[in-house]
Amino acid sequence: MDSFWSKLPKPFFALAPMADVTDPAYRRLIAEYGAPHVTWTEFVSADGLYHTREKKGMKDGENPLVRDLQYSEAERPIVAQIFGSIPETIEYASELVATLGFDGVDINMGCPDRSIEKQGAGAGMIKTPELVAPIVEAARRGAARGKEGGIPVSLKTRIGYHQETMDTWLPVVLAAKPDALTVHLRTRKEMSKVDAHWELMARAVALRDAHSPNTIILGNGDVNDLNDARTKAEASGADGIMLGRAIFGTPWLFTDRVEVTPAERIEALRTLAQYFSELRPTKSFHLLKKHIKSFITGWDGAAQLRGALMNASTLEELESILAAAKP
Ligand SMILES: Cc1cc2nc3c(=O)[nH]c(=O)nc-3n(C[C@H](O)[C@H](O)[C@H](O)COP(=O)(O)O)c2cc1C
Repeated sequence: MDSFWSKLPKPFFALAPMADVTDPAYRRLIAEYGAPHVTWTEFVSADGLYHTREKKGMKDGENPLVRDLQYSEAERPIVAQIFGSIPETIEYASELVATLGFDGVDINMGCPDRSIEKQGAGAGMIKTPELVAPIVEAARRGAARGKEGGIPVSLKTRIGYHQETMDTWLPVVLAAKPDALTVHLRTRKEMSKVDAHWELMARAVALRDAHSPNTIILGNGDVNDLNDARTKAEASGADGIMLGRAIFGTPWLFTDRVEVTPAERIEALRTLAQYFSELRPTKSFHLLKKHIKSFITGWDGAAQLRGALMNASTLEELESILAAAKP
């Protein structure tokens, strides 16, 4: 398939999927400052998409999970991430994602969250390698039904479960010939507690070369900014680098900007709050609190303003504190 993956620069830089962080509101702000080469959505449950529809007979536009899959044209190419371990629901969700116009569908095979692993999904998939091929085939079937010619199917995983087992695990995922593969350079057991093992990325690239040379490979974990990303791509030979937590409080991350004034930080948070109320009316206002912490920092008086904002309990209150703020 001649997909967007083959048209990206080398190296390219991608925004990581982060639940309740890279939501439609924050992604819109990021795209306004300067979009990455590829954007991922937060993950969405394939079972959830399937069952909400089946059980409640909702139209897709009314389904809150489908609302989580809103995006704007400025975010393209945009990949929707789903999780699940049942081919039937993966097929359904992939069809839906293709119908919604996404440029790709990505399957999460690395999330350590227990509630997700209990469903056999996320990092749980590393323990059931026999499921990888049927899951990817189901995604391809669904994608082809949703859009003529299908959309690319990619995977995101870790370097092992209890210990590093790249030499056995990566050939399994690569045998499914994903269009792209993101390797978060930690095991499931390591969660995010140790430094990402960038020294292993060149080996992951070599495994890709040996088992599925047409798969685009991305490295992920602890990348601070674009300069760091360029260095890591060069050292490892990765096609692309995915950045996650570096986007906290820095929606301009993909623009090479370093100098940002306190006034700009305040303005960015205000805009985000507006987008949040517009795009996520059903989501808790408290989800904004992690953004308050990361935006309102780094100048004299920031702590005081942050304290006031953290005590706000409605969006209106937050907006009026921000409007009165003098950095
Ligand atoms: C708050 C949060 C939510 C996350 N949600 C997801 C997710 O929905 N899907 C996923 O594949 N990874 C998720 N991750 C993992 C990130 O995509 C990424 O692999 C990890 O944070 C390491 O990259 P970083 O050091 O650049 O942040 C999440 C991480 C964080 C911190």
